[in-house]
Amino acid sequence: MSTHGQLKSHVLEEISKATSLTELEDIRINSLGKKGHITLLMKEVGQKSPEERKAMGAELNILKDTLTEAFDYRKAQLENAALNARLASETLDVSLPPRPSPRGRIHPLSHVLDQAIHIFGQMGFIVAEGPDIEEDFYNFTALNIPPEHPARQEQDTFYLPALEDNQPLVLRTHTSPVQIRTMIKGKPPIRIIAPGRTYRSENDATHTPMFHQIEGLVIDTSTHMGHLKGCLEEFFHLFFEDSSIKLRFRPGYFPFTEPSAEVDMWWKESKWLEIGGCGMVHPNVLRNCNINPEIYQGFAFGMGLERLTMLKYGIEDLRLFFESDLRWLTYYGFEPEARE
Ligand code: DAH
Repeated sequence: MSTHGQLKSHVLEEISKATSLTELEDIRINSLGKKGHITLLMKEVGQKSPEERKAMGAELNILKDTLTEAFDYRKAQLENAALNARLASETLDVSLPPRPSPRGRIHPLSHVLDQAIHIFGQMGFIVAEGPDIEEDFYNFTALNIPPEHPARQEQDTFYLPALEDNQPLVLRTHTSPVQIRTMIKGKPPIRIIAPGRTYRSENDATHTPMFHQIEGLVIDTSTHMGHLKGCLEEFFHLFFEDSSIKLRFRPGYFPFTEPSAEVDMWWKESKWLEIGGCGMVHPNVLRNCNINPEIYQGFAFGMGLERLTMLKYGIEDLRLFFESDLRWLTYYGFEPEARE
């Protein structure tokens, strides 16, 4: 076999063994590239005698064509294999069941809030809202709590820097300011509930700095305390799904109601639990909102949502409500479908 014959079978073998396109390209550059063996041999042809030149030239040209053909063939083979591999690996199996996606749960407080809104909604109440960052006027003054009133200290208020107009700002300590906003904006008859976040600077086993209240307000020409009692009784019977639940109205004091009462619920045939405050809206509060107390009167109430939630679902520790612990949320939370 001539030297060219050996070279040919060597390169052909290399070509057939190449397992990737880059490997194949390296082999091609090594033989047919600018400085490849065969290119160099072809350059040498020029220095040979005319006879040798002719024979060698023809032989090298055939070699070059054969190898080029072999390269093209192997290249097509490797490209095909790469394509097949891609097709195999990228196949979509439409018969596979979908992967389960993680599902959230409804926080017990949101669930109870939905229930409360639903029940009061059926009784003709609409939802009113106000800001969490409240002006001192709405949170205190208009509610008949003047600047020196001790109730301001009792409520462990979070104060915020005043704005340019020097109106002191607070994180609202109760949902009662929504009463004021509603009465200033609208005209009686009024029948609203105002659920929302409230804030006080206290933190222990039974108090968190942020908690939720639900406020109620009814103003009309002939609303009286009997309506207030009936309304709260109806709510508690529906909320706890127990029409034997008894409420007790104890004389109490709130600056914004007169008379005022604390509301207790007879719990599990064993004890009275305090669940909120209420009363007939104080004439001063009506006047602060440009409502004539000679014509209109009404009642208001406020209660803690966490308390209601803990009682209804047997949740013991208040602080866990706001820890965002997934185990707690999974245990006490509700399926989205269960939301009314
Ligand atoms: N705002 C009171 C509090 O946070 C609760 C309350 C009592 C609201 C009596 C009322 C009410 O509307 O009439 O302690």
